[in-house]
Formats: sequence, C-alpha cells, structure tokens
Amino acid sequence: MTNILIKNIKGLAGILETNQGPLRGAELSELNCLADAFLAIEDGKISMYGPMTELAGVVDWNNLEVIDAEGKYVLPAFCDSHTHIVFAKTREDEFVDRIKGLSYEEIGKKGGGILNSARKLADMTEADLVADAMKRLELIKALGTGAVEIKSGYGLCVAAELKMLRVIKTLKSKSDLTIKATFLGAHAFPAEYNENQDAYVDLIINEMLPVIVEENLADYIDVFCERNYFTPTQLDRILAAGVAAGLKPKIHVNQFSILGGVGIGVKHGAVSVDHLEELDDNDIKELSGSQTIATALPSCSFFLSIPYTPVLQLLENNVAVALATDYNPGSTPSGNMQFVNSLACVKMRLTPSQAINATTINGAFAMELSEELGSITVGKKANIIITKEIPSLDYIPYSFGENIVEQTLLF
Ligand code: NIG
Ligand code: FE
Repeated sequence: MTNILIKNIKGLAGILETNQGPLRGAELSELNCLADAFLAIEDGKISMYGPMTELAGVVDWNNLEVIDAEGKYVLPAFCDSHTHIVFAKTREDEFVDRIKGLSYEEIGKKGGGILNSARKLADMTEADLVADAMKRLELIKALGTGAVEIKSGYGLCVAAELKMLRVIKTLKSKSDLTIKATFLGAHAFPAEYNENQDAYVDLIINEMLPVIVEENLADYIDVFCERNYFTPTQLDRILAAGVAAGLKPKIHVNQFSILGGVGIGVKHGAVSVDHLEELDDNDIKELSGSQTIATALPSCSFFLSIPYTPVLQLLENNVAVALATDYNPGSTPSGNMQFVNSLACVKMRLTPSQAINATTINGAFAMELSEELGSITVGKKANIIITKEIPSLDYIPYSFGENIVEQTLLF
C-alpha cells in the first residue's frame, strides 16, 4: 500500500493522544485542532502528525503520495452509530400523509410505517437489497461517513430477518465503510400476531436468535420499546435472551413515551440507548451512573416534528452522548451527518466542537469501534474527511445544506 502524506492542513481536528472512554459531560467540548499541520498515513493507519514546521526530516519521501490540503481541514470520518440503511422502498406517500395531518404513530396503526416497509422488503432479492444499500453507502461516504451501524427489522419473520442480516454481512465485505450489524427483529408486531404478541417475542427468542448467533450475523440486539410496539416486559425478555446468546443491546427507547426502557437497557449493559426525545429525571439518573451511551437522533426529530433529545441536560449529568442519523425510509430519509451536526447546534444548542465529537469519537464508542476509529490518534485507521476550502471548523455545522466534504479517505 502506498504511503500518504497530507501536508499544509489548515486545521487537523479531532486529535486524541489516548482515549479511555467516550467523552462525557464537559469533556465533549474538548476538540483538539492543530493549525498548519501534516498527517502521515502508512498501511492505512495514522503513523504520525504534527505542525508543518516539524515535517522536514521526519518523513521518508520514497513511495509516497502527497496531498496538499492548503485551506482545508482534516478530521475523523463520521461514525454513524444508528441506521436502517437496508430497506426496500422509500415512503414519501406517508410523508405527504403527515403533511396532511396524520401522525407517525397513526400511520403505523393503519398498517403503514414499519409494516409497510416489511411488506415491500419481502418481495426483494438479497442481491437487489445489497445493490440499493451499496448506493446509499456511497452517498453517505461522499457526505463524510466512514463507519455505520445497520439494523435489520424490516423482515419480521425468520426468513426475512435472516435475509436482511445476510445482506448486511455482504455489505461488510463489499463496502469500504466499517459496518456493524444489529438484529432488530423486535421492530414491530406482524399483523398476524395481533391477538398474541408474546408469540412473536417467542419467535424472536426461539427461532431467530439461535440461527443469527450460529451464523454470526449480528453484533448487537435491538428492540423498539414504545407504546403500540414492544412493552418494557418484552424488552426485558428479549434483551436477557440476546445477552445470554452473546449480543450486547443497542435499543430504541423513549421516542414518543417514557415506559422505563432506559433503565432496562442500562440493566442489561446496553452499549447505547437511542432516541430519548422524551426523558425524565429517573432516566437521566439511570444513564449518569452507567457506561451506556445516550444516542440522540436530531434528524428524526426534525423530520417527524417531535421534540429534540435534551442533550445539554444529559451532558450536565455527565452522560456520554453520541449523535447519529437514524437513516430509514419512515422517520429519517437522510444519512447526512453534516446535517446532524447542524441540527445539534441549532436545535440542541451544542457547540460545533461538541457536535463533531459526538458524531466522531463518541459515535465510534457507540459501535465499539473506538480502538480503530473516531479520532486522529497514532495507530488508528486513517479514515478521515478532507474538507473543501472552508474558513473554520465552525463553518461545518453553520453551512447547513452544503456538502463541505471534498474527499472521504477510508482504509
Ligand atoms: O428509529 N422508531 C423506530 N424505528 C425507526 C423508524 C422505522 C420506520 O419508520 O421505518 C426509527 O425512527
Ligand atoms: Fe432507528
């Protein structure tokens, strides 16, 4: 592999000499940026960085590709720790229904929403699902994303859940993005289980989980705990079974209602609890004393016109916060992490430094990829964004709607 030297970098941002754990509370504000810097890459890993004044003599110029980043910033590629990127069809008809007054929950109750996506996915081949998802991965790469978590959950029967997870496994080998797979069989109840929803929970635990574990198809287990979806008791059962089978939880909780799912996630050692648009003091207390990351999804709040996660309150209570897109056809038809940064600043009142940390290093922690990704650290993979010529780092969330990424380098 050729070695790469990036020189004359206007600002090298996201430098962390070491990182023990996700940035929590006040630490989230610390975004180290070195002005007029160079970055050296050997075998796809960050081998060295420093000020341009120290470049002479430290670099072996043989077999070296040189990139001149004059006027440009370099930062870690975004780590999007919550998506549903494998899906069959877009759902803009439901978007129009919502404009006309129906809520996301009402559309779901009518058999739209997740069940609508499941019907459409049932007819698609694995190969077509892979091809469509690859296009979405290329799109988000061009917007600066280098690592992504992808959930199943539009299958809702043994065969189709396995199909989705096999698609994600194929994506892992075909894409240059780093991918984590999450089993979300507990995304919605298929209509045929309406009279006996616990039977579907049994199916998840007894029929889906063993095959998924046997074939090593998932890294995490997820449940949508919400009114009209999975109850806290069902969440508890599914997480217990998942953990016993070796899958750590990353769960959907508190999107519309507070049911106690946060505490159940924490009890089962969830890597993250995601959404949290609705939160009470008890939830915050559960999180502040735990290792569980709180993942907020501001573009979902934007698209559904629901409250934004009270991230400042979480930070005041020393909680580790990550930000992700939730890219899916129903609640967030966008995988744009730059827009997530803008919304986090505008709607959640994070500073640009906090937003960038929450979309890079803390996103990496929320996928347990922090050893190799999420910061400019010697020895980590050199998965980075080289921006266009921009005036400052603050310009990234400020210039919403513009793609400031010139190139996403992934190894
Ligand atoms: O995270 N809320 C549950 N799941 C997704 C939406 C899925 C869909 O509408 O297709 C979410 O918002
Ligand atoms: Fe989601």
